[in-house]
Amino acid sequence: MTPLRHFLGTQGLSREEAEALLNQAEAFRPTVVENKNLSILSGKTIVNLFFENSTRTRMSFEVATRRLGGSNLNFAASGSSVSKGETLIDTARNIQALKPHCIVVRHASAGSPSILARSLDIPVVNAGDGFHEHPTQALLDAFTIREKLGKIEGKRVVIVGDIAHSRVARSNIHLLRTLGASVAVCGPPTLLPPNPEILGVDHAYRLEPLLPEADVVMCLRIQLERQNRMQIPSLAEYSRIWGLSSERAALMKKEAIVLHPGPINRGVEMDPEVADGPRSVILDQVTNGVLVRMAVLAKVMS
Ligand code: CP
Repeated sequence: MTPLRHFLGTQGLSREEAEALLNQAEAFRPTVVENKNLSILSGKTIVNLFFENSTRTRMSFEVATRRLGGSNLNFAASGSSVSKGETLIDTARNIQALKPHCIVVRHASAGSPSILARSLDIPVVNAGDGFHEHPTQALLDAFTIREKLGKIEGKRVVIVGDIAHSRVARSNIHLLRTLGASVAVCGPPTLLPPNPEILGVDHAYRLEPLLPEADVVMCLRIQLERQNRMQIPSLAEYSRIWGLSSERAALMKKEAIVLHPGPINRGVEMDPEVADGPRSVILDQVTNGVLVRMAVLAKVMS
């Protein structure tokens, strides 16, 4: 298998590479369950370079680094010299001069992790770039689907919400299709990409017809921060037509599961009864995030 020097996206990731990462994540499970730490990253420093807010991803990379025996340096744009006009590349080059061993980056601009990967001498991991990719989120989603349903091949995944502005949707579409799932996207016409079929997915503007055939329903947040102007009449209107209510969830197969990458807007993307109900694997996704990020860090640092 070709070594992964960086981890920038799921587009172009082969099935063999993706399955190897999922299997490595599974192999790390006993370490976490038994509350142990390894020494794979002993003496290594991982920089979390976050230009956008994060709860799950940043903390999960921190926990993953510690589980592997490494240490973290955390950068937050607020309070940094970015406010004095320092560019992304200058910031990253100065941080590289502190001699860390890997940079995990989240940035509002699509493509910024690739630019850093070309500019730096150390591995770069994409923790979310604009509306482009969020590859470790897709890996943890795939890992969770495999954990709960036994396999991904042949499963039907419905992604509902703001597909057009979602890096989570893009990374999941690439990865889940590579792993043999069929994917449908659903949402208001203004929040679907112009030609969804180019991505190899089906699309629908109403959720109800898709629910009985779904093995997985992944609800996404409306990304108001990435919209130039409000592209739906109101959040209440969105919730009424596309929200996963208890009534709509009842149309799903008995064993079908519900995912959400977080943060959830309760009562918008899904009802609280669904978010906290028996189909929901949302907190398992967060737990699994540590395992897949351990696998990614171990891989790029190997
Ligand atoms: N899912 C996700 O990326 O969450 P955070 O923004 O909290 O990292």
